[in-house]
Amino acid sequence: MKVQVLPSRRHFEARPDEPVLTAALRQHLNLPHSCKGGSCGTCRVRVLSGAVAYPHGRPPGIDAAEEAAGFALICQARAREDLVIETREIRHVTDVEIRELPARVERMERLAPEVMGLWLRLPAIEPFDWQAGQYIDVMLPGERRRSFSIANPPHDAAFLQLHVRHAPGGAFSGQVFGSMKAGALLHIEGPLGQFVYREGTGPLLLIGGGTGYAPLKAILRAVLERSAPRDAALYWGARTQADLYDDAWLRELAARHPRFRYVPVTEEFVHEAVLRSAGPLAGVDVYAAGPPPMVDAVRATLPAAGADPARIFFDSFDQAPA
Ligand code: FES
Repeated sequence: MKVQVLPSRRHFEARPDEPVLTAALRQHLNLPHSCKGGSCGTCRVRVLSGAVAYPHGRPPGIDAAEEAAGFALICQARAREDLVIETREIRHVTDVEIRELPARVERMERLAPEVMGLWLRLPAIEPFDWQAGQYIDVMLPGERRRSFSIANPPHDAAFLQLHVRHAPGGAFSGQVFGSMKAGALLHIEGPLGQFVYREGTGPLLLIGGGTGYAPLKAILRAVLERSAPRDAALYWGARTQADLYDDAWLRELAARHPRFRYVPVTEEFVHEAVLRSAGPLAGVDVYAAGPPPMVDAVRATLPAAGADPARIFFDSFDQAPA
């Protein structure tokens, strides 16, 4: 099937058995998306012509009225016929070239009982540009892929650092926590995603859950090491203290940077800690990354404290259906 994207007029081919978003990404078109699991609504498009279907049923991120009005979530929708879709495209992000590259695992380090740090080395002759907050896909046999945020900022590009959580039965994380050794060769594609740092002068509020900390670390380092100075606070929530695997580094960072505040959260939901102690949020740029319930709670509750919904940027770490 042919899919044409408006207003850019770009087009790509989609097979009937693959989500339209997967086809777009495979052909290096970085259309807006986040969770890839049908819950966050970021990949919503208007279908101007043609028909789509959801083999797993209508996903939770779209209701019947929106569907009837011609909207679709392309991380789940399959093309039934040629499509014309309308989407917002983010020029400064989509202009970054998406590449497929080999990547050598240079180093592995257990960061927490269930989180492995991977340091990937890319070919020296292949420049790889990305923006703080973006992610890569690791390509697996059978055209499967797994997404991981890049935890280091572009100005420190010797390696790509990933934080891999051990998922029960996970096709890739099972290897990482099983047979994988330093020296392993992977194939990656990226950079992907629209969760990127936007320059500004107002305060920043970073809210992470679990390994949702990874893209926030890249953003935090971009801000503190490179960008114009601005106030920044990081609330990082996890189930146990051991899961806050960068806690010592963050405490030390906060001690060195008077404009940076770090709040570890293990005893309550992280959005509750934010609402209790972050103060008024008018004029604050919010970046939230982590499991969908955490991201949903941030998006639902922070506007009541003054946050501008248009300045809440989020990366929802869902698992797309296999
Ligand atoms: Fe499609 Fe989240 S609903 S990316």
